[in-house]
Amino acid sequence: MKKIFAILSLIALAFVGFFKGEAMATEKQTVIILLGPPGAGKGTHAVELSKKLHLPHISTGDILRENLRKQTPLGERAKTFMDVGKLVPDDLVIQMLLDRVSDTDCQKGYILDGFPRTLAQAKMLDEHLKNRGEVVTVNLSVSDDLLVERITGRLVCKKCGTPYHKVFSPPKKDSLCDRCQGELYHRDDDNEKVVKERLAVYRSQTEPLINYYKEKKGLFYEVLAAGNKSEIFENLLHTIQKSIK
Ligand code: AP5
Repeated sequence: MKKIFAILSLIALAFVGFFKGEAMATEKQTVIILLGPPGAGKGTHAVELSKKLHLPHISTGDILRENLRKQTPLGERAKTFMDVGKLVPDDLVIQMLLDRVSDTDCQKGYILDGFPRTLAQAKMLDEHLKNRGEVVTVNLSVSDDLLVERITGRLVCKKCGTPYHKVFSPPKKDSLCDRCQGELYHRDDDNEKVVKERLAVYRSQTEPLINYYKEKKGLFYEVLAAGNKSEIFENLLHTIQKSIK
């Protein structure tokens, strides 16, 4: 019964999303999907890609954390999952995403960071994007040891969301963002215990999406995301640019 209810809710969400997005359906969109485990650099590179490609960066993690800060009903529900490294239920995240991509700044496309993360989310996105333009999926791959080191040393700007690292990419001024002077903070879920759970959740629920996108007819690429940040970014940008020309 629970399963039937969940499926019916997802179908209803698809309809709402479809009608909301209908107004924008005439414009051809470029949608970039960044896949990869926590700490792979999705947020880091999405910020730069957004500037180069003039497409908005949509991070479902950032939107959820914003709801958490504002103590909205969505934020309160999401907190119980985020605090322990579990995924927020599909129906909540899908509705939130459909709302965001119906904003006018998404007319030409957008860069997704942290979505989709389950098969249900990927299928819903496919349905939403049907006949709307080009989708480029890139998987950023990094070894687990490096991921834990990156995440536990990460600092994030409260104002613009730019990620820094205490050792690998420190801010010029301690605790202040180079770009907007916002205050930097350490995310609650960026501790070793929760990171290990996030990695386990990634392996079981999100990693299977790599095969899902590989087997589809769309554009799928792998980019090694260990090593020099600028070189990784140049490789990523080049990969995307040559595929959307
Ligand atoms: P979210 O905020 O999406 O976290 P995540 O996927 O765990 O990804 P991260 O933000 O940790 O990693 P990233 O790949 O962006 O790495 P970054 O660029 O910052 O999600 C948080 C939670 O929200 C989830 O656990 C879940 O509960 C919920 N949620 C979100 N979306 C959801 C969805 N769709 N469905 C259900 N639940 C959802 O880099 C990491 C660090 O490494 C930084 O310090 C950076 O400076 C450094 N770094 C990056 N690249 C390099 C490099 N080449 N060399 C050295 N350092 C580097």
